[in-house]
Amino acid sequence: MSKRSMLVILMLCLMGVMSEISMAEKWAVSVKTGEQSVTNLNFFFHDKLSGNNPSAIRVAQPIQSYQSPTFFGVIMMTDDPLTETSDPNSKLVGRAQGLYGSAGQQETALLMAMSFCFTDGAYNGSTISILGKNPAMNPTRELPVVSGTGVFRMARGYAIAHTHWADAATGDAIVAYNVTLFH
Ligand SMILES: *[C@@H]1O[C@H](CO)[C@@H](O)[C@H](O)[C@H]1NC(C)=O
Ligand SMILES: *[C@@H]1O[C@H](CO)[C@@H](O)[C@H](O)[C@H]1NC(C)=O
Repeated sequence: MSKRSMLVILMLCLMGVMSEISMAEKWAVSVKTGEQSVTNLNFFFHDKLSGNNPSAIRVAQPIQSYQSPTFFGVIMMTDDPLTETSDPNSKLVGRAQGLYGSAGQQETALLMAMSFCFTDGAYNGSTISILGKNPAMNPTRELPVVSGTGVFRMARGYAIAHTHWADAATGDAIVAYNVTLFH
C-alpha cells in the first residue's frame, strides 16, 4: 500500500470518529474553531459624581452612623461615557454601565461589575464584561475581562486602568483604559 493511500485511509478513519462524536447527541454539535484574534482598545472613562447630571450615583450605603475611611459598603451605579481621548468632548466610543462598590475595610478596594458597551463603528453593539478588584488609589491597576458579546463574544482578557485625572473633593475622575482581549 502506498503512503498516500495509507494517509487517505487514516483520514477516513479520523473522519469516521469525528462524525461518530457529532452524531452522539442530536442537540450538540462541536466544530473546531480557527485562530483567535487579539484586540487592543484604548479609551478614557469619565466617572462624574458631581453636578446636576452625574454619570455615577450612589445607590446603597451602610447605616448613617457607620463611619468608614474607605466608604466600605457604598455601592455606585454608573453610566459613564467612554471617549477616544481624555477630553470629555472627544469622540464617544461607548459607555461603562454597571456597579462599583467599596469592598475594602483597610484599603480603597472597589469591586467592579460592569459592562463596557461600545457604540463606535464595527464595535457598535458589542460589550465586554469587567468583574474584579480595582484598587482605585493605585496609579495603575489591572482588571479581569471575563467575557463579552458581539465582536467580543467569548472574549477573555485584561484591562490596565490608569488614573489620568481625579478631584479628591468631588470624586470625579478620568481613567485611561488599555484593554487587551483574546476572542
Ligand atoms: C449603533 O447601532 C444602533 C442600533 O443599530 C444605531 O441606532 C446607532 O446609530 C449606531 N451608532 C453608531 C455610532 O453607529
Ligand atoms: C496597551 O497594553 C498592551 C499590552 O499590555 C501594550 O502592548 C501596549 O503598549 C499598551 N498601549 C498603550 C497605549 O499603553
